Amino acid sequence: MPLLQVENLQVSFRTHNGFLPVVRGVSLQLHEGETLAVVGESGSGKSVTSLALMGLLPSKARVDGSFYFQGEPFEPPQGKLRGHGLSMIFQNPMSSLNPVMTVGKQVAEPLLFHQKMTVREADKKVLELFHEVGLPSTPAFSQRYPHQLSGGMRQRVVIAIALACAPSVLIADEPTTALDVTIQAQILDLLKQLQSHRKMGMIMVTHDMSVVETVAHRVAVMYAGQFVEVGSCGQVLQSPAHPYTRALLASRPTLTREPVGVLKAISGRPPSPSELDGGCPFHPRCSLVEESCRKEEPVLQEWEDRAVRCPIAKRGTTVASPG
Ligand SMILES: Nc1ncnc2c1ncn2[C@@H]1O[C@H](COP(=O)(O)OP(=O)(O)OP(=O)(O)O)[C@@H](O)[C@H]1O
Ligand SMILES: [Mg+2]
Repeated sequence: MPLLQVENLQVSFRTHNGFLPVVRGVSLQLHEGETLAVVGESGSGKSVTSLALMGLLPSKARVDGSFYFQGEPFEPPQGKLRGHGLSMIFQNPMSSLNPVMTVGKQVAEPLLFHQKMTVREADKKVLELFHEVGLPSTPAFSQRYPHQLSGGMRQRVVIAIALACAPSVLIADEPTTALDVTIQAQILDLLKQLQSHRKMGMIMVTHDMSVVETVAHRVAVMYAGQFVEVGSCGQVLQSPAHPYTRALLASRPTLTREPVGVLKAISGRPPSPSELDGGCPFHPRCSLVEESCRKEEPVLQEWEDRAVRCPIAKRGTTVASPG
């Protein structure tokens, strides 16, 4: 049984022109000990999807869909699972920490309020969590304030807070984007270790294919509010099927491939939610575009252990190889 199952998640935001759909029918399954990467360009709906699962969207958002945690239906907007079942780490460690509270107090807070620990128990647990995330496990460190720490240390504190209630599912939304490159690798490595030791399910949101390669077992490629390709990392990275996945992979430098002088950026830009015209959202940028793509939005089709939202890729016509 999956730890987390989402069926047909739809999120739209109320605007003066009515509701704008930004997440359009996302379904996913996450198993114990599995990392699912959600990858896509800016604005594709990765954060909104994560926030919807955590019940953290503003009230102008309309959320539809079915959610199951260990087989039991749940309603994210009530936030009942926040902390226990599901925890989330955000992109910018500074904005998720309280600048005027010591880091020890911030890690202790969920232990006192959700786990109902005594102050003494919580203080002890805080030091254990600091140790687990690679921070000095001393009372003196507990007394520090966020501004007294480096960016990497702050993100470790944020991770310690997220782990405090022993979540089964950890959602990490671009947890390394705001950090220096060398620190990014350390934080990714830490998350990977924690995920595997604690057998958590992890959703890693990123726009970076090398992050996918480093941490994920499966990957979902997101475009204009939909998953366009979902499969195992090996499968999707080695033989991407959807033209967008191919373009994403072709536009990145890799460790195994000589970096190309100039990155082959994907021409054009993703449509904004108000520009969706009923056809395939990728068609204006797609090298395989056919007449039908302009008229009909493709559905996600199961195909050789993966799911792909492109009938033309599925038909196996002359798809150029990536890179
Ligand atoms: N609070 C909000 N109100 C209105 N529209 C929003 C809100 N939050 C997000 N959106 C819109 O929803 C769409 C998806 O945004 P989202 O933040 O999920 O993108 P993302 O994939 O996380 O991008 P990034 O890589 O830049 O973080 C965008 O068009 C964005 O403008
Ligand atoms: Mg985002």
